[in-house]
Formats: sequence, structure tokens, C-alpha cells
Amino acid sequence: MAVGALADSRTRRPSPRSAGRAPRPVGVVTRGTTGINRLRRSDRWLVHHEGVQRALCDAADPLVVDLGYGARPNTTFELAQRLATVRPDRRVVGLEIDPERVVPARDGVSFACGGFELAGLRPVLVRAFNVLRQYPENAVADAWATMRERLAPGGLILEGTCDELGRRCAWVLLDAERPRTLTLAWDPFTVSTPSDVAPRLPKALIHHNVPGEPVHALLQAADRAWAWAAPHAVYGPRARWHAALERLHADGLPVTVPRRRMRDCVLTVPWEIVAPR
Ligand SMILES: C[S@@+](CC[C@H](N)C(=O)[O-])C[C@H]1O[C@@H](n2cnc3c(N)ncnc32)[C@H](O)[C@@H]1O
Repeated sequence: MAVGALADSRTRRPSPRSAGRAPRPVGVVTRGTTGINRLRRSDRWLVHHEGVQRALCDAADPLVVDLGYGARPNTTFELAQRLATVRPDRRVVGLEIDPERVVPARDGVSFACGGFELAGLRPVLVRAFNVLRQYPENAVADAWATMRERLAPGGLILEGTCDELGRRCAWVLLDAERPRTLTLAWDPFTVSTPSDVAPRLPKALIHHNVPGEPVHALLQAADRAWAWAAPHAVYGPRARWHAALERLHADGLPVTVPRRRMRDCVLTVPWEIVAPR
């Protein structure tokens, strides 16, 4: 089912009559749950990601869209502040499909009504967190395609999900062509095994965490490596996860082994490793 086919009295669809005017928001209004600093792990990852840095620094217009910021725009301001360390002149626009949640511009961040069509903007970076979670799985492909078509050259999309306090997070990084990577990130001190992130997998994967599917195999392998790395626990959970990542890499899994010291436990793999069968 396409995004525009979601049956809901609050569904908004593009209309041929809107040609020449601002496009009608594509998508549906969902719960506006959000929280201060909830998206800190993906923000940290974004500012250190070489591809994101390159996209922002090379952009003629460093426009960033935070799509679906929810009942309050706290996470949009946080994103704007953190991305300023990469590109001080970045412009951030928060888009919400619910017009009642659109707030006045403040601290250099502006807000508008918009959906997956991105309100006619051409951003170099889109962050859509906890937006698709409340959609059916078969809405994902259209939503991704609609956003990808609107990217500026070299643009990227971060689409993900997390729990209420942002302790368990997962996101997909996409470019104009296709999904590139899946990343899982979790709090080293409150999450006991990598597979505890499973309930927060992005909508494209969450229904595929069953035996025989690649994402299930990845979580099992991560749990095995975590168990293997148990002797490293004396150095703390971050050191233990680093050892587990090196184990996964030595076993032939194309995981990213970070060179910098990490605050979070992070697992990044190419999308092909987890793409549903
Ligand atoms: C759960 S909140 C997420 C808030 C924030 N991003 C976070 O993660 O804390 C989801 C928000 O996305 C909005 N939303 C849903 N579909 C959307 C779409 N297609 N375009 C823009 N906003 C959308 C909903 O109205 C809701 O306010």
C-alpha cells in the first residue's frame, strides 16, 4: 500500500489541483511523542559520519530538514545545534504534517507544515525519526522514494526509530539511489545484549526479525560476539563492545569498527547485509 493510500480521515495526499502551489503534505498525522535529548545517539553519529560531513560541507545550500518533530520541537533545536559543529551556516527547517504542531521560528530554526514531499524543499540532509514507526510496513518504500526524489545533489536521509528515552535506537542511512547502511546504537549501561534493540528496528526491518531473515541472523551474531567478549567486561561495556565488533569483523561480517572512542555501543553494517529476503 502506498503512503497516499493510508485510509485515515487525517490522511493528506498530493492533489493535481495543487500544481503551482505549495505541495500538499504526504503522509498521516500520528502521535507526537518526543523527548528532550531523545535523539542524541543519532545526532552524535551524524556529526562524526564522514559521508554526512562531506554532504553538508559540499552543499551549496546546507539545508537540513527534520521531518516529523512531534508535539514539541526540542529535537530539532538539538539537531541544529549539533550540526553547527560541522557546518556553522547550516539552515534547519522542522516539518510537521500536523499544522497544529507548527511553531514560530526561533534561534535560527524555522518550522512549516509538510510531509514526505518535504514541502517543496531540496535539503541536503533529512532526519525522520519515529515517523514511519506508526505506518504500515508497505508504506515504507513509497515514503523513502518520495523523500529521495526531493534530495539536493549528494543528499542523505536518516530514517530511524528509538525508545522513549533514546536508549535503544536504530536507523537507516539512504542516499538518492538506495538505502546504504543500517545502524543500531544503544546505551552501554542499560542495555544488556545487542538484540535488545530489536523492538526498535526501523519499520522496514522490524517485521523481519525472525529465523531465516538476514536481520535476525545479524542480531544473533552480535549477541554471540557480545557473549564471546565477556572477559572484556572488566574494562567496561564500551571496551567489551569494541572487542565484540572486532570479533564480528574477523569473522567476515562487514561491520564498521570505529577508530575514535565511542560513548555509545554502535553497530553499522551495509544495508545489503540486512535487506529483507
Ligand atoms: C512520534 S513523533 C516523533 C517526534 C520526534 N521526531 C522524535 O523522534 O522524538 C512523530 C511525528 O511525526 C509526524 N508525522 C507523521 N507522518 C509525517 C509525515 N509524513 N511528514 C511529517 N510529519 C509526519 C507526526 O504528526 C508526529 O508528530
